[in-house]
Amino acid sequence: MQRSTTSTIAVAGLALAAFVTAFTVSTAGQGPGQAPPPAANTPPKPLVPVAASSVAANPDQYVGEYVTMTGAVEANLSKTAFSVDQDKTKATGKEVLVLAPNLQKPADANGYVTVIGQLIKFDPADVATKLKGYTIDLSAEDQAKFKGKPVVLATAVINTAGIDIAKKPIPPMSTDDLALQKQMVKLPPAQAALRKALDGSSVDLTKEQATILKTAFTEIETFWKAKGNEEATKWASDGKRHADSILMNVANQNFDAAKTSVTPLGATCASCHGKYRERMDDGTFRIKTAQ
Ligand code: HEC
Repeated sequence: MQRSTTSTIAVAGLALAAFVTAFTVSTAGQGPGQAPPPAANTPPKPLVPVAASSVAANPDQYVGEYVTMTGAVEANLSKTAFSVDQDKTKATGKEVLVLAPNLQKPADANGYVTVIGQLIKFDPADVATKLKGYTIDLSAEDQAKFKGKPVVLATAVINTAGIDIAKKPIPPMSTDDLALQKQMVKLPPAQAALRKALDGSSVDLTKEQATILKTAFTEIETFWKAKGNEEATKWASDGKRHADSILMNVANQNFDAAKTSVTPLGATCASCHGKYRERMDDGTFRIKTAQ
């Protein structure tokens, strides 16, 4: 028992290090001018490190907590469920259930894992409200067996190789994502160059950059119109209108008036990104459709 406890702690440290690294990397590659969005699976409370045996012995004190629970895989129960206990070699009868909706492959039998997620007492109705869109795939027998027992609703399951086997794969960019991205990448450099041109009171350079912005916003507007998304279409046409007003004002050498459009033009980015842009764990973006 002593031996297995020691190695469990070592493994937990390793797995946690991998987890923290993954989070650090995932904050890179933000869009410009955007506050970093919280990672999708950031727990609302500090994580409580705990061994599966402690949970099994004293579940009540952990109910509602977000835990990093270490233990050995006892049995794979379904595509998205397995049980964990403390002893690698024998069933202790003190298992803790783990439900991992995004489990990509069965956990290695008897392998040590670190499971991260909220701990509750197993109740199918409770699970349904906490894990929207997830269907419990445990047998009726297992559901009865674990009813009222501790369960971790896992957002991550890290194995001894440091791999999170409960991580949703990142979907490739769709044709739509790629088409929109082509316009998006033009915007930040044009915005930066526009500000410089305005500060330097250069009519030609301001016109050049405002035209790039206007053209890109026109394409973006067309894109969303074709999707029947009125709100996004409006944000794109707002952007176009601000670029237009810059063009009109610089034509009259009125740089002060032109400068007043810079902030509202930038605000259209944040509005649309907040609702229709989704950031993947690898720092790339997709169009967000489901609300
Ligand atoms: C009407 C909606 C909308 C507006 C307005 C908008 N964006 Fe986007 N933007 C998106 C969506 C959706 C994505 C994710 C899909 C993609 O990359 O095209 C995105 C992605 C991006 C990306 C990431 C491109 C990449 O490298 O993959 C950048 C940079 C960006 N936008 C900058 C801007 C800036 C700057 C503005 C304002 C000047 C802006 N966007 C205005 C919807 C919008």
